[in-house]
Parts: sequence; C-alpha cells; structure tokens
Amino acid sequence: MSSTVLIMGAAGRLGFCLTRAFANAGWQVIAQARKDLPAELLGHKGVRHLACDALDRNALLAGAQGASVVINALNPPYTQWHQLLLPLADAAQATAKSLGALLMLPGNVYNFGRDLPSVLSTHTPERANTSKADLRIEMEARMAAEPSLDSVVLRAGDFFGGPGRGSWFDLALVSKLNSDRFIYPGPLDQTHAWAYLPDLAECFVRVAEKREVLSGHHRLHFAGHSMEAQVLQKALEQVWSQPLKAGNLPWFLIRLGSPFVASWRAIAEMRYLWQRPHRLDDRELRQLIGEPPHTPLLQAVQDSLQALGINTPTRPATKEALA
Ligand SMILES: NC(=O)c1ccc[n+]([C@@H]2O[C@H](COP(=O)([O-])OP(=O)(O)OC[C@H]3O[C@@H](n4cnc5c(N)ncnc54)[C@H](OP(=O)(O)O)[C@@H]3O)[C@@H](O)[C@H]2O)c1
Repeated sequence: MSSTVLIMGAAGRLGFCLTRAFANAGWQVIAQARKDLPAELLGHKGVRHLACDALDRNALLAGAQGASVVINALNPPYTQWHQLLLPLADAAQATAKSLGALLMLPGNVYNFGRDLPSVLSTHTPERANTSKADLRIEMEARMAAEPSLDSVVLRAGDFFGGPGRGSWFDLALVSKLNSDRFIYPGPLDQTHAWAYLPDLAECFVRVAEKREVLSGHHRLHFAGHSMEAQVLQKALEQVWSQPLKAGNLPWFLIRLGSPFVASWRAIAEMRYLWQRPHRLDDRELRQLIGEPPHTPLLQAVQDSLQALGINTPTRPATKEALA
C-alpha cells in the first residue's frame, strides 16, 4: 500500500499541521488548496500542491492518483455550512472511493447535541438537536453507510496551536493578553475538551499507518488536553509571566447582534459547549496506536502563542504567575 495521502484543505488550520506531520513522517503528500500553500509547506520535498476547488471531483481524482489515504480537512465558514458541508464531504468521499483509499475525517463534539454528557465515548448517543449536530451526524452517517469504503472519524475538541486565526483560543482566550486579561466563554471551573493541533496531526499519521487493519467504518476519540479554564489560565500566566484577570465573553452583545449578523448567530448557537463540562474518552484510539501524542501543556501554550505571532515576554515571571 502506498504511503501517499491526499489532504483536502491543506492550507487550513488542521490541514497545515497534517501536511507537515505526514511529510515529516516520510509520506508523499498531495496538498489540495485553492490558494497558494504556505512557504513552509511548499519548501518540503514530500509535498505537492494540488491547486483545485474541493468540489471539482475530476481534478481531485486526476491529481490524487496513487493516494491510499484521503483526509477531509475542509471547513466552510459557519454561515455556509448548510450549503457546502455535505457537498464538500461527498466530494471527499467519492474521491476516496474511486481511489480505493481510506477516508479520514476530523470529527467534532457537535454530534452529541446541546445536552452532551460529561464523558463522550464512541458509544455516546448522538442527538440532532442543533442545526450543526444535524449536519455532522449526516456527514458521518454517509461515510458509515458506504459499503465499499474504509473510513475513520477521529473526533477531537476545540483546536488550538495551529497557524492562522479564527479559533476560540485566539478569538477569545488570548484576544486581550496584551492587557493581561484572559477571556473565557463560560464558567472557569468546567472541563472543556481541547485538541493541540500538532498532537492531533501526529495522531492522524499514526492511525493512517494502521491502514491495513482498518476495514469498514471506525470512530476514534482523541482526548487531547481536557481541562478546566483555570488550568489553562494558570498555564497562560506562566508563559506570559504575569497574572491574568479573567473576564467573560460578552455573550449579551453576541445575542443582541445575532438577528443582524449571521456569523454571530452561528456562534451563539454553540454557547452550550461552554456551559456543559465534557471530555473525550480515547480508549479505542489507545488500543489502536498505544499512547497518543501529548505535548505538555506549558509547551503547547507557548508554541500556540508563537504560532499566532504573539511574543511572550522575556521578563521574569512574577511570584503570582508562578504560584
Ligand atoms: N476548529 C475546531 O476547533 C475543530 C474541532 C474539531 C473538528 N474540527 C473539524 O476539522 C475540520 C477542519 O477544521 P479547520 O478549523 O482546520 O478548518 P479551516 O482552517 O477553517 O478551513 C480549512 C480549509 O477549508 C477550505 N474551505 C473553506 N471554505 C471553503 C469553501 N467554501 N469551499 C471549499 N473549501 C473551503 C479552505 O481551503 P482553501 O485553502 O482552498 O481556501 C480552508 O483552508 C472541519 O471538519 C472541522 O469541523 C474543527
């Protein structure tokens, strides 16, 4: 079986980390992206840019010959999910099927609906009681229902630590770091599931390397860094060398603007995820690959700030930050 992977959405947050991780592991990477790839990826000898629209099935198939794994790392803006999520997923699925390749999808926790329990296992019932849960359930059901396709959903929590902006980590948590503030969208004492992207990307490589034993449809959970906001705040304080004043996201403003701003409406729908503690149970993943990659939190936070271009101070940490 070839060690060639087609990564759809290679210039995205996860796509970038996947491209780098597979190339570093010695794979040939066909990196689909409509725009130019970041220079760091283009400079890698194992990476070839496939410049085409992710809906262009002919171009995908012609450009991805020889791939034994296809990863759907595409993500239309929230406001276009209803028009594009399923057509993009269908294009990835049709490409994998035609190539006889393993299809991999980064799943999220939306499938469990707004009443999600605190521990999410691969057997936790799904509940289509939000519009996004509905779409994600349908997307995965189509993968599972395709008899001649091998597929894996690797489910993870909120991303942090990749290139580019647009995640909760940069839009909220560290958005006011320069004024020594930590902005959190929910109560500080509830566990939230986070996925440090370089770890998740490495995990995709390790699962893909088990390709030969992955026939049929599989669901795996990546536990990542599950932690209370206070733990993350403490780690940021250590890296920032200053105590941080915690503040809440101004949800009332987002709610007020929701009737007029579609993206705010889409964000407001996700508030429940910050009000219900949850973490992912990764037992099946451990059975398959052993101990999953796990960068220590301080290192992950330090690297995440660096990836966002936020320079951490060289001043010595205050006693309060280290307490
Ligand atoms: N973000 C999270 O916290 C999180 C957590 C768990 C799972 N996931 C899942 O992981 C996957 C990747 O997420 P991400 O945050 O890494 O994605 P992202 O960076 O937001 O986007 C990935 C790529 O999707 C492509 N894309 C966007 N709009 C498109 C459109 N209209 N038509 C075609 N392609 C389009 C873009 O490729 P071009 O370069 O071609 O523009 C973009 O680089 C998604 O399925 C997401 O639901 C995300």
